[in-house]
Amino acid sequence: METVAVLGSTGSIGTQTLDIIRHYPDKFRVELLYAKRASDLLLEQVKEFKPSVVITEDKPSTQWLKELPSTTQHFLGLEGFEYSLQKLELNKVVNAIGGIFGIAPSFVVLKKTHSLLLLANKETIIAAGDFLNPFWERIIPLDSEHNALFQLLKNLKTDQEVEKIVLTASGGPFRSLPKEELKKVSPQRALKHPRWKMGKKITVDSATLMNKGFEVIEAHYLFKIPYERIEVLIHPESIIHGMVQTIDGNLFALMSPTDMRFPIHYALFYPLREKTYLKPLDLTEVGKLTFEKPDWEKFECLKIAYEVGKKGFPYTAYLVGADEAAVELFLEGKINFLDIPKLIMEILNSLSQELKADLEAIESLVKQAYLKAQEIGSSYRKRY
Ligand SMILES: NC(=O)c1ccc[n+]([C@@H]2O[C@H](COP(=O)([O-])OP(=O)(O)OC[C@H]3O[C@@H](n4cnc5c(N)ncnc54)[C@H](OP(=O)(O)O)[C@@H]3O)[C@@H](O)[C@H]2O)c1
Repeated sequence: METVAVLGSTGSIGTQTLDIIRHYPDKFRVELLYAKRASDLLLEQVKEFKPSVVITEDKPSTQWLKELPSTTQHFLGLEGFEYSLQKLELNKVVNAIGGIFGIAPSFVVLKKTHSLLLLANKETIIAAGDFLNPFWERIIPLDSEHNALFQLLKNLKTDQEVEKIVLTASGGPFRSLPKEELKKVSPQRALKHPRWKMGKKITVDSATLMNKGFEVIEAHYLFKIPYERIEVLIHPESIIHGMVQTIDGNLFALMSPTDMRFPIHYALFYPLREKTYLKPLDLTEVGKLTFEKPDWEKFECLKIAYEVGKKGFPYTAYLVGADEAAVELFLEGKINFLDIPKLIMEILNSLSQELKADLEAIESLVKQAYLKAQEIGSSYRKRY
């Protein structure tokens, strides 16, 4: 029986993680659930899985607390999380908290426990990749592309046998839209992803291709591969999640249905494999797979991410903060879709270039960029 914590349990990845755990009651015991709000959904999850601890960022009502099972203790925020970790023996911690708020909990898990970190929160790796060297052995990526590459690279020597790795991208909802029309797209349109059902932040990032750019940086850190050997390929069917080309010209691909439960299933059972209840891929139903090159001019965010990745820290931390604010402002209708890369570049160009930092300082750099982008972006309507 493995003991598991699920951070961000009420979100898209969190609920899919619990869906898998629900199918294997004799394999996993949920010890801790963590979400922002003391919502009805979180309460339902607590009643079903009866964890020892539930954490919320927001203060719950007295009624909500009253309804908790007698065996579940409630704590508040990051401090409560850190305190609980001292008392719980966790084999695996799934971090599926959305955006920049997921970074600090990742650090706590890595520094204060010996648990494996099953990481969906890509912001952690992008902002802090340069400082995670002592911890890579304990990080299992949940992102479908990186989970695919993680599996594919297992038996290969990355520095000697691998020519390049390929990250596939669906292309998002605006793949076929002319660039001049992008200025007018509404948040509602950007939130309609053609393939994946995800939280709002990552869905907008997928529409700008910043998500793919983030994934390029994530892959660079996870697999120690230079940016020149990381390729992005548009693959609208989202059946192939990652590919590895070896130096002798062979191309290995990992395919599975467009369903995040496949990578989550793999990570939950890692390092073993377990027979799944999920319906595997039927290629006759898929029919054909297509591929095209990304449009670099239309999707500036992808280009920005490659450039920032090559510059490394602290720009990677600034990128994460600036993008978080830009997406929020777009969803609030305060900036348009094409303002997103413009605002991010403005922030990257205005922040300190000499800075040296360590793990402790990363969060404040991310926040610095976030707040600056909030401030500058809020006046975009007047300026443009
Ligand atoms: N969804 C996907 O298919 C997918 C794929 C690859 C990677 N990822 C990555 O996985 C992460 C989660 O994505 P998602 O799509 O699952 O997001 P989501 O649906 O928006 O869920 C976010 C979760 O984080 C919680 N949360 C937000 N702010 C918090 C805070 N300050 N403290 C504690 N908990 C907080 C939310 O709680 P409430 O419900 O109470 O607000 C919710 O449980 C992101 O980093 C994303 O990039 C997602």
